[in-house]
Amino acid sequence: MALRTAGEVCRGGVAGMRRFPASARTWYLARRMSSAPPPAGNLPRHVGIIMDGNGRWANAQGLPREVGHERGADSVRTVVRAARKLGVDALTLFAFSSQNWDRPPHEVYHLMALLRRYLIEERGEILDNDIRLVTVGETDRLPSSVREPMMELIEASSENSSMVLCLALSYGGREMITDAARQICRAVSAGELEIDAIDPELFSSYIESSRILPPLDLLIRTSGEHRISNFFLWEAAYAEFFFTETLWPDFTREHLLEAFEDYSRRERRFGLTSGQAAVAAAADAKEEE
Ligand code: FPP
Repeated sequence: MALRTAGEVCRGGVAGMRRFPASARTWYLARRMSSAPPPAGNLPRHVGIIMDGNGRWANAQGLPREVGHERGADSVRTVVRAARKLGVDALTLFAFSSQNWDRPPHEVYHLMALLRRYLIEERGEILDNDIRLVTVGETDRLPSSVREPMMELIEASSENSSMVLCLALSYGGREMITDAARQICRAVSAGELEIDAIDPELFSSYIESSRILPPLDLLIRTSGEHRISNFFLWEAAYAEFFFTETLWPDFTREHLLEAFEDYSRRERRFGLTSGQAAVAAAADAKEEE
């Protein structure tokens, strides 16, 4: 059965997504206009997760690393379902980095097989729950065994609007920024773009994720590591970070709620003063009435 959340009613799903604007002020104003507070407190609209610790989880149980990835795929199912029920607009999962291609070939093979299985087995639940699948990364590097079910589900879910599930596949933040810079240089060389027109807002429009996702609010990393590992380097500029010791295969709905609870206590100022942020929050609340 399709799940319904109060969030989708209040916010009109993902239709109102805005791009990352040029300055803190325009960013802040655009955000005020685009993001209504969720009904149950301050819920992040876009959550990114660095799903780390599958290998250590398996090691601790005396199992092969592949089993850790399989349990990790189970956590993916749990977390997607929980995020949808809670009313998150977009969830991005860092499932395979540009650097992961250099892992042992049998591990890469196993991860690709897991991705394929996930896309096939979860198709029904994703569609039934009005979830739209998108990807970021160099997905043309993926084998056709993954690309085919992936493209099919992207197409089949393209009209869905209750939550965006974004899989970061063959993804690297530096690679995405480099790609944007390359495209901008081409546009300048072709005389289509003035150098002086290049500002953060314009640059952002060349970053793949900015075209399909709202600004990143919360970045979660599991397994006790405190680094970003080439994920969402551009997007994380104003994101809140949540680090947990929990290994990804042990990550449950309760851990997600803990991260959201922690997030709801943060004061996000976007370079403004605390006083300005309070005024903005009051204006937001008024607009919502
Ligand atoms: C990092 O753990 C995790 C990965 C490189 C892959 C993540 C993949 C999954 C969670 C499963 C498949 C994904 C989907 C969307 C079905 P690690 O192997 O680096 O762990 P370690 O640091 O403990 O060795």
